Amino acid sequence: MEIEAQNAAPAQWATEALVILAPELEGRLNPQLEALDRATQGWLSQLQAAGEFSGRMLESTLLHRPPGIQAQRLLILGCGKSAPGPFELRRLAGTAARLLKAKGVKEMALALPPEATETRAATAAALPAAIAGAWAGNFETGIYKSERPPEKRLERLTLLIPPSVTPAEAEPALRRGKAIGAAVERARELANYPSNYLTPRRLAEEAEALARRASLECDILDEARARALKMGAFLSVAQGSAEPPRMIVLRYHGGSGADQAPVLGLVGKGITFDTGGISIKPAEGMEKMKYDMSGGATMLAVMQALAELQPRLEVIAIIPATENMPGSRAQKPGDVQYAMSGKSIEVLNTDAEGRLVLADGLCYAKKLGATHLVDAATLTGAVAVALGAVYAGAFANQDGFYRQFEQAAAAAGEKFWRLPLDEEYREQIRGTVGDLLNTGGRYGGAITAAEFLHAFAEDTPWIHLDIAGTAWWDEGKAWMPKGPTGIAVASLVELAQRLAMES
Ligand code: BES
Ligand code: MN
Ligand code: ZN
Repeated sequence: MEIEAQNAAPAQWATEALVILAPELEGRLNPQLEALDRATQGWLSQLQAAGEFSGRMLESTLLHRPPGIQAQRLLILGCGKSAPGPFELRRLAGTAARLLKAKGVKEMALALPPEATETRAATAAALPAAIAGAWAGNFETGIYKSERPPEKRLERLTLLIPPSVTPAEAEPALRRGKAIGAAVERARELANYPSNYLTPRRLAEEAEALARRASLECDILDEARARALKMGAFLSVAQGSAEPPRMIVLRYHGGSGADQAPVLGLVGKGITFDTGGISIKPAEGMEKMKYDMSGGATMLAVMQALAELQPRLEVIAIIPATENMPGSRAQKPGDVQYAMSGKSIEVLNTDAEGRLVLADGLCYAKKLGATHLVDAATLTGAVAVALGAVYAGAFANQDGFYRQFEQAAAAAGEKFWRLPLDEEYREQIRGTVGDLLNTGGRYGGAITAAEFLHAFAEDTPWIHLDIAGTAWWDEGKAWMPKGPTGIAVASLVELAQRLAMES
């Protein structure tokens, strides 16, 4: 999709479809809508008077060739009571893209409302959100039917911005939006691949191909190298599968080299299929476990965006990639494993495999020099029970670092809810014959999983994102179809850029 910013007045802009965001104003129109109302000789006020349009969030009306405007269609989208922030703009732009592309429209011009562009900073924040939203709504993940329906996609997006910001000044924000939009698409595509295609080896090849394209450093550890590094927790999950595992390492060198500069370590769960292992999962719904590498896909996608945006920061991404399979070589409940850190783990349930591979991933990230850690993982069903598919779960061992993440997520327009870490939960995973148990029972399942990881992150500033409930939607929404969501990509790109600005 081609993306540009323009200063034109909405009514004057010639395009296939013009999108206007209209807030709930109880009779009064903002200057942008007033100008449009004048140009169309009162269409908007008539709609309002007839009670057909109130401005409620996502309420929509599509008009064909309304008089007085250059566009062939006018889509009016309600944007609710308050000024739309990044979160709302993502959804509004996504909804517009989905409504229009379904009708075969190829180009859309979105007029950012005055409420969202009052200052230059507000405009700079609104643009990436609107672009990422439109991109997400425009993209559908692959289908493998022998007869493919013709693709309906927007090919051009124009953002109409107020004259206080020139298109040249909007360029950095545009670049950010495009980089995030493309990265989210990449993460969704990877999460959607069936596991017979996207094996650990294939995921490693994808990382290598990205590294070549984007000038990242890439190191793929095979089983022998993982063994030499004593990654016993990671390898214990892999041992049941005929598919060889890969510990994928991608590095972006943008740092200033200063002593105090942070090194961001991103660790993503890369289980390309989770059967549960010997503690096998029920057949019903198991097919969805192809997306158990969503955290890894997120980190690969973030690296792609960072390579494009070139922040001044060192970043290391680590993706422990393996299948979790039953079989005669698979690990069994009761087995004791030694993690890379030296800690011993009693594996009570082989289905709690994510924390095992992440334990060594976190440890290796620290070994490679990460000063700040973020992991993303489809880790527990419990987080989906607690928060559903709306908020992703977040945990942190340091308030300052979490606050930075929280602000980044708000700017990116994604929802995370912080859950507690607390020593008392550690008792649930205290080992009987070893140091740690890999499960802490039914109660507080998302938290005990986080506490397990905490034992490997230790005191390094660390954030854990449990995206099991949010990485895949079982139902579509107005702004995005069902399937993989690419959650956390935008927030982590934002976070990296903020860390770079501060150091
Ligand atoms: N990959 C699953 C978690 C999951 C569940 C992701 C549903 C997406 C949707 C994870 O490996 C797992 O199986 N977790 C277990 C842990 C339990 C055995 C302690 C779970 O949540 O049931
Ligand atoms: Mn599992
Ligand atoms: Zn899993």
